[in-house]
Amino acid sequence: MTDSLTVRDNRTGAEYEIPITDGTIKAADLGQIKLNDDEPGLATYDPGFVNTASCRSSITYIDGDKGILEYRGYPIEQLAEKSNFLEVAYLLIHGELPTKEQYENWVHEITFHTFVHENVKGFMQGFRYDAHPMGMLMASVGALSTFYPESRHIEDPDNRHIQIVRMIAKMPTLGAWSFRHAQGKPYIYPDNELSYAENFLSMLFKMSESKYAADPRIAKALDVLFILHADHEQNCSTNAVRSVGSSQVDPYSAVAAGIGALYGPLHGGANEAVLKMLRRIGTKDNIPAFIEGVKNGEERLMGFGHRVYKNYDPRAKIIKKACDDVFEVTGVNPLLEVAQELEKIALEDEYFVKRRLYPNVDFYSGLIYEALEFPPEMFTVLFAIGRTPGWLAQWLELTQDKEQKIARPKQIYTGARTLDFVPAEERWA
Ligand SMILES: CC(C)(COP(=O)(O)OP(=O)(O)OC[C@H]1O[C@@H](n2cnc3c(N)ncnc32)[C@H](O)[C@@H]1OP(=O)(O)O)[C@@H](O)C(=O)NCCC(=O)NCCS
Repeated sequence: MTDSLTVRDNRTGAEYEIPITDGTIKAADLGQIKLNDDEPGLATYDPGFVNTASCRSSITYIDGDKGILEYRGYPIEQLAEKSNFLEVAYLLIHGELPTKEQYENWVHEITFHTFVHENVKGFMQGFRYDAHPMGMLMASVGALSTFYPESRHIEDPDNRHIQIVRMIAKMPTLGAWSFRHAQGKPYIYPDNELSYAENFLSMLFKMSESKYAADPRIAKALDVLFILHADHEQNCSTNAVRSVGSSQVDPYSAVAAGIGALYGPLHGGANEAVLKMLRRIGTKDNIPAFIEGVKNGEERLMGFGHRVYKNYDPRAKIIKKACDDVFEVTGVNPLLEVAQELEKIALEDEYFVKRRLYPNVDFYSGLIYEALEFPPEMFTVLFAIGRTPGWLAQWLELTQDKEQKIARPKQIYTGARTLDFVPAEERWA
């Protein structure tokens, strides 16, 4: 067997042999296929990169057909059950699990960089009273580049490390302050005696008590949700981080671009749509009519189906378990019953079975967030905090990848050519 592709150009009759590596051909190799030397060679057209690999990566593995998700080779189920978010963050960034000493240093570093410059607070307070927390988060992460101008020296490994620590550490502070802002409540400073999730909960919900003690079951569930969202290979926001990072800008600006991408409803907004759908269905009796409507193409069953997973999304299984833990504390969200019944019916229905539509990560996460009293605008902020180590691991990999170049796709030009410009005074005369 030869690992190559023989291509015959039927316009010229010429044949070309193109090497196949890792199940891909290099798009640049197609450039030699041309009608004559004056013309550009053949290119590929792939809006949305549905069949184009943009990088080599050793961070996250997904097998959508089998429903497998692994970070650095470790199955998501094991990490969610036996690890914690900061250890997973270390794994994603460094590529290996930490020794005891490395872990303790890492947790210490992250914990002691949770505070932001006081002017960041002043800056955030300047937002309108009803500012969307994702807009605030995106702007304030971007603004951090002005507080750490040395972050532009991305060639220096120590410098890269400290910016990564700062960003993972400060994201909950900025996320919680965005939440408090909309409520007109004072911003709460970080408490370095608390764990990552506990500190975040404290900054979100603390009022006059001298110390906020989160229920450990809630803190654990939040930590698990962060783990589940920590990376998902080359999705839209990660691609944004890599694309902007490829200009060699500082990591704050690159991650701010990722937050912008996540803000969009096609990316981070599906769990809110699930909640709206469940509320509209209301009770179990209304499910059959709703399913009929979906099957007739009137609408989609939100939280079902995925571009990559054609099997049960492994994260959805773990979230179902987290639901039980959270509801033990908060009381059961009445919509859970509707969601479970909906899932049961859909998994047995031929329409969904044939199309390989299974619950995805968003099917149950909205129910948990609602039980924790987060308004829907905050759901994506929680996603962004969890995704930060993934964005940074991908950015770090990019900065050290010799094959990477500035992201600069081609286009197929469809506009006019060589028009003669007539000055405005003549055109309008
Ligand atoms: C996620 C999603 C965009 C993936 O889309 P995709 O891979 O491009 O799949 P397609 O849109 O081509 O759908 C394939 C078929 O399944 C159907 N389908 C896909 N998702 C469906 C859903 N949630 N409910 C009902 N039908 C669905 C489509 O109508 C299509 O049917 P057809 O072949 O008869 O035309 C899609 O499944 C969806 O819209 N899901 C609901 C939104 C959601 O939960 N998003 C969060 C993703 S993490």
